[in-house]
Amino acid sequence: MPSTVYQSSSNFHVIPLKSDLRKDTLIGAEVAFNDNADGGDESKLSHRVLDVNDLTDSDISLLRQALFEHSVIVFRKQLGIDPNTLPALAAIWDDKVQSHHSGEISALTATNNILSKNNASRIPRAKEVTILGQGNFDGYEGVPKLRLRHVNHLEFHDEPLSQEELDQGYTRFYRFHCDAPLYEKLPGKVTILHALKVPEAPQQKIKFEDGQELELDAGATAFVSGARAFQLLTPEEQEFALNTIVQYAPRPYEWIQNCKATSDGLSIATTGLEKPVDELTPWDPEKVQAHPMVWKNPLFPDRPHLQILGMCAKSLITIDPKTKERSVIDDLAEVRRICHSFQKRSMAPSYIYAHAWRDGDLVVFHNQGVWHTITGQLGDVYDSETTDEAEIARREANKRLMWQCTMASGVAPEPFNPVLKAF
Ligand SMILES: [Fe+2]
Repeated sequence: MPSTVYQSSSNFHVIPLKSDLRKDTLIGAEVAFNDNADGGDESKLSHRVLDVNDLTDSDISLLRQALFEHSVIVFRKQLGIDPNTLPALAAIWDDKVQSHHSGEISALTATNNILSKNNASRIPRAKEVTILGQGNFDGYEGVPKLRLRHVNHLEFHDEPLSQEELDQGYTRFYRFHCDAPLYEKLPGKVTILHALKVPEAPQQKIKFEDGQELELDAGATAFVSGARAFQLLTPEEQEFALNTIVQYAPRPYEWIQNCKATSDGLSIATTGLEKPVDELTPWDPEKVQAHPMVWKNPLFPDRPHLQILGMCAKSLITIDPKTKERSVIDDLAEVRRICHSFQKRSMAPSYIYAHAWRDGDLVVFHNQGVWHTITGQLGDVYDSETTDEAEIARREANKRLMWQCTMASGVAPEPFNPVLKAF
């Protein structure tokens, strides 16, 4: 197909990312409004933000196809979108979508609620939408005092970058994951991110074990295709992965609360720092989760996705395809070694798409088909008040404001290997 012919619908056309961005990732397309969208009424151009009520059947079909094919789709210039559009949009890709976010259910309307170290909050008029970022925002969306914090790599990785490396612009992948609480609630099919204010910071870079480097925008979100990751395994590893279920720890993010990440953001660096399971907040064995290692793509049944949340894995259960007997690996170091060895094949610039955010971007990604992570050092934590104009301007330039929405699904990710459905 010539590159100028795109898939299209009533209101949109899909443009795969250029090859220098797409590389070997299998990831990425832009979805643009047609010139004749809204009946070609130019006066409406500035109002072309997504509204679920405007979508035709052909639009919905195109958006489904685009997402499950390209894994990450980008709508530009969406400033002004209604935050309630995000949860409504999620239903396009999940006919079993639930009415709540896959994280905390309740909306946060109090002034200083802290969900975690990033001080994330929820939009009071759209309680399924989380506000994330960096910097101080007073009165934003009716929240009197937001003190958003981008995660600091120095407190995250087992072997942090040196000050010299930070000065040279190096950063790290923090935690490759899909958005999944892995306890009680099921992961959403998609996650939607929206950039309202992107920091004005110099480019940063990530160094890989073999010396290769990836240049990326400060605060870029990095994605790896689970489909490409599966292809990078040997036939024996693929066979193992297809027949294996990953058992996750109870309350896994509390379990690893004191642990530090490996330098590539794929795993936990050591063992022994996990909280004993009998010291966790009381948990119900029925709500602990296990998921297949390889997930099925809803529209491309021949495309297996390797989807492992390596940091939260506790044991591996492999089903013998002939005898149906189960064998269990529950030595934590070995579980992590296997998961890490599978996932690290993708740790090369050619397999990673790092989305360079622009104000107004709305990114939808196939949460059950890619792994993603934040990156970037976004400056200081501004606890002190200042009246210095240069300092105020510097803080303003460093600010970042994002929305995030990932709606829980009513069904678990489907195993690529149907044999695993019985386990
Ligand atoms: Fe995430």
